[in-house]
Amino acid sequence: MIVQRVGLNALMDAMIARLTSAFRQFEPACYDIPPRSGFTYHNPYLGLLEWMPVMRRGAEVAIKVVGYHPANPGSNGLPTILSTISTYDTHSGHLIGLADATFLTALRTGAASAIASRALMHPDSRVVGLIGAGAQAVAQLHALSRVIEIDQVMVYDSNPAVTRTFSQRADFLGLEVSPVEAHDLPRLVSEADVLCTATSVDIGDGEVFPDRDLKPHLHVNAVGADFPGKFEVPLTLLQRSFVCPDFPEQALKEGECQRLGLDQIGASLVEVIQQPERYAYARQTTSVFDSTGWALEDQIALQMLLDYAGELGLGTPLELESASDDPRNPYHFARNGHSHHNSHS
Ligand SMILES: NC(=O)c1ccc[n+]([C@@H]2O[C@H](COP(=O)([O-])OP(=O)(O)OC[C@H]3O[C@@H](n4cnc5c(N)ncnc54)[C@H](O)[C@@H]3O)[C@@H](O)[C@H]2O)c1
Repeated sequence: MIVQRVGLNALMDAMIARLTSAFRQFEPACYDIPPRSGFTYHNPYLGLLEWMPVMRRGAEVAIKVVGYHPANPGSNGLPTILSTISTYDTHSGHLIGLADATFLTALRTGAASAIASRALMHPDSRVVGLIGAGAQAVAQLHALSRVIEIDQVMVYDSNPAVTRTFSQRADFLGLEVSPVEAHDLPRLVSEADVLCTATSVDIGDGEVFPDRDLKPHLHVNAVGADFPGKFEVPLTLLQRSFVCPDFPEQALKEGECQRLGLDQIGASLVEVIQQPERYAYARQTTSVFDSTGWALEDQIALQMLLDYAGELGLGTPLELESASDDPRNPYHFARNGHSHHNSHS
């Protein structure tokens, strides 16, 4: 409903604007953001369920629970990334809001890449390449289209059916999208000014493109690396590029940065946004935004959704917590005949 009322473009523009101002104003002392943790399993396919917590001191805690099940689209008819997010008041622990975060994850991940691209790409960038053409790729291209005047889009996915259907999924953008086959991947990467990698490449199977004939100013948004041993970008490219992680502590464990020493990391996205002149030189060099996903982005995305819900009178007020009239008696509601069972008797 919110998407219909506000419109996808306005929502993406608002997400980009809110995230940009959150990065500009980010003050580490105001937040507590531990790197995420989770469970991995094979049931029977590879799966990962993670929790991403963030506390805005004196205000609230938001926790996103996100599943990564790359066999989902083919086997279960569900997205690879499935997610929900909840937020709690730190005065009382009360649940303030609960929302789908599958859509919000795509939106904020796209917005973060757009912000990184706007800060680090060559100003004349017009050609976008996409490697991995699933759910995130749609939002990556959408977000980029809000900050770049795109002349040409080339897309490659290791699953040819996904490459073929991408242009339908992105047709709302009105862009010319050229599907590319595996043998043409070197052309895609050599013509791109901005490249987004959003693949579900298996652990140990990266790099997903060759470091060959790349533009000297190529900017890469590396979105897919999110697990130890999982990466997308050629090491040689990383080593000569300005590497910009969203969340350095986490990127060193699960992002492209896991293959680098601390001294090979340029600056975090927050630092780049807070000191744009200092890092402007990176527009003329190759640069890599190492996006692993930052809980702060989820908190900002949820806040945006809650603000729209409030403004537009949308959303459903829910009392999920069993808070009875007597706070010292957890059974109080039952004695007063308000339990589900009693209310029907
Ligand atoms: N950085 C973040 O904040 C963030 C947020 C969400 C998702 N992700 C990650 O982004 C990736 C993509 O997520 P999605 O929701 O788009 O999944 P998806 O399953 O919809 O799409 C992934 C696509 O990658 C393709 N692929 C796999 N290996 C490839 C290769 N070597 N070359 C080209 N294509 C390949 C698959 O065929 C699939 O179509 C996942 O790894 C996910 O964990 C990161």
